[in-house]
Amino acid sequence: MIAPGSVVLVGAGPGDPDLLTLAALKALQQADVVVHDALVSPEILDLIPASCQRLFAGKRGGIPSIEQSDISDTLVRLAQAGKRVVRLKGGDPFVFGRGGEEALHLAQHGIPFRVVPGLTAGIAGPAYAGIPVTHRDVNANVAFITGHESAENAPFNTESLSTRIDWESIARTFPVLVLYMAMENLSLVTERLMQGGCAADTPMAVICWATTRRQQTLTTTLAQAVHDVQQHNLKPPAIVVIGEVVRLRQQLAWFEEQSEEGS
Ligand SMILES: C[S@@+](CC[C@H](N)C(=O)[O-])C[C@H]1O[C@@H](n2cnc3c(N)ncnc32)[C@H](O)[C@@H]1O
Repeated sequence: MIAPGSVVLVGAGPGDPDLLTLAALKALQQADVVVHDALVSPEILDLIPASCQRLFAGKRGGIPSIEQSDISDTLVRLAQAGKRVVRLKGGDPFVFGRGGEEALHLAQHGIPFRVVPGLTAGIAGPAYAGIPVTHRDVNANVAFITGHESAENAPFNTESLSTRIDWESIARTFPVLVLYMAMENLSLVTERLMQGGCAADTPMAVICWATTRRQQTLTTTLAQAVHDVQQHNLKPPAIVVIGEVVRLRQQLAWFEEQSEEGS
């Protein structure tokens, strides 16, 4: 049960409503107010009871409609007013989702909160594209990396995170990479990975709108990726997978019509 005056940070998963956890569904059914992001799918929003208030706190056209500090303050204000608050986020709230920042803000204001983890796009997306993120004999580890973070979010300086990330070292360390928010900086990221020693023909997949009816997967290579993404006019949201596990898709694709190009 959600206690009045408390907040539940809920992961909605990547889009397919069947991937919502039971805990997430129960929280939605009990909430007085749901504060949700843009990437929460319409089918999941439809599960919110009509009696429950909905507040949109996402980005429209890439521009945040509410500042992060305002979202955190809104959660505190609603809880202090005695509401049962659900903060609904795409994927998992603690994976590149600022759930940690919001939880810290709640903790600092003495607001009781709980976390309902969700399936993150970086695991569920590849699974729906027929790509296991680990596979015995291929990789013993996998790195989940953000390919983009705006200067506003960068805590240390105004350089974007994708520039500050040591892509050359990552290229030497991890056999499989799963990138979130990488579309904008794809050119920089792929070039620096090749400079770090990744082969130009390393297989790569770009999975757009994963787990939804709009899911589209492009398979390509590190060297061809920028060209192929432009050619197919692929847009975010997308998960990028780089490494030999991508080849398994040839046998394991199950969810969508394959759109194989490039390699
Ligand atoms: C701010 S991050 C949020 C990640 C989210 N918390 C999670 O765990 O999946 C947004 C990025 O997640 C990825 N993403 C989220 N949902 C996606 C989906 N259905 N298909 C492809 N990528 C998705 C994209 O890289 C997108 O730019």
